[in-house]
Amino acid sequence: MPADPNANYTNSALRFGDVDPYPQRLVGEFIGTVVSNHWVNDEYKHVILKVHPQALKAYAGQMFHLLCPSPDGAEVWMRRPMSVYRVDKDAGHVEFLYKCEGRGTRGMSMLAPGDDFNITGPLGHGFKLDLSWRYIVVLGRGVGLATLAPLSQLAAENKVGVTAILSARNPGVVMSKDLFEGLGAKTITVFDSDGSSTVENVGKILEDLIAEKKADAFFTCGSNRLLTLMQRLGKKHDIPGQVAMEQIMVCGFGACYVCMRTFEAGGQRVLRRVCRDGPVFNMQEAVGW
Ligand code: FES
Repeated sequence: MPADPNANYTNSALRFGDVDPYPQRLVGEFIGTVVSNHWVNDEYKHVILKVHPQALKAYAGQMFHLLCPSPDGAEVWMRRPMSVYRVDKDAGHVEFLYKCEGRGTRGMSMLAPGDDFNITGPLGHGFKLDLSWRYIVVLGRGVGLATLAPLSQLAAENKVGVTAILSARNPGVVMSKDLFEGLGAKTITVFDSDGSSTVENVGKILEDLIAEKKADAFFTCGSNRLLTLMQRLGKKHDIPGQVAMEQIMVCGFGACYVCMRTFEAGGQRVLRRVCRDGPVFNMQEAVGW
């Protein structure tokens, strides 16, 4: 007998078109329908899901917990947390950009248009945009750029200018440039391959933006050395900042304490749950890794 593809789904999961019996709830379990799932370069794929309108409430920096299919017939233990790459409210789509490297994401890479994909969320506290800011700087590397990309959407909606510094190993694996630019952001690319991604050079780019008064706030994700750089310049020039932390998770909603990380707040070291207290935190309170 063929395996039931819905065996892992619960009856409460909502599909597009279902009536939500609990419309006030903030978090739900949804069955999205895969619209497309294509490679953006040798390592990353971009999946677009048609989802129930409740799932469209996700905002920049929030995440979903994904029930990834198995790539090999054996069970995939636990859901995988993934930050939202884009929400297209008009089309009813939630999108994710992901690196195919573990069993969960390899299973995800096999999803085809029309397949079901079970997602739970939106989870966590995302980015906050102060409407007194006129220009923000986002600095990311690797899959961290996928987490930062929705900020350009949020900023564009609120008429806040964005400079996005995109760091990558080489031009072949830089991501999200089109998305940032499509939403009006100015992009600057820096690469390991030509030496432009060094801390010294990125620091100079940031100092120039500060001198031009184009840096009212800093945002980063995906690199410890870039976090440390932004923390240092943020402290020096009194620029507020936020960082989206990446962490292994199990439950995704604050119950298991697997995702604890150390922060420094009020002169003390404290432990916080990345899934529930974050994943976006005050940059100056984050302790690097
Ligand atoms: Fe369980 Fe964060 S993953 S508390």
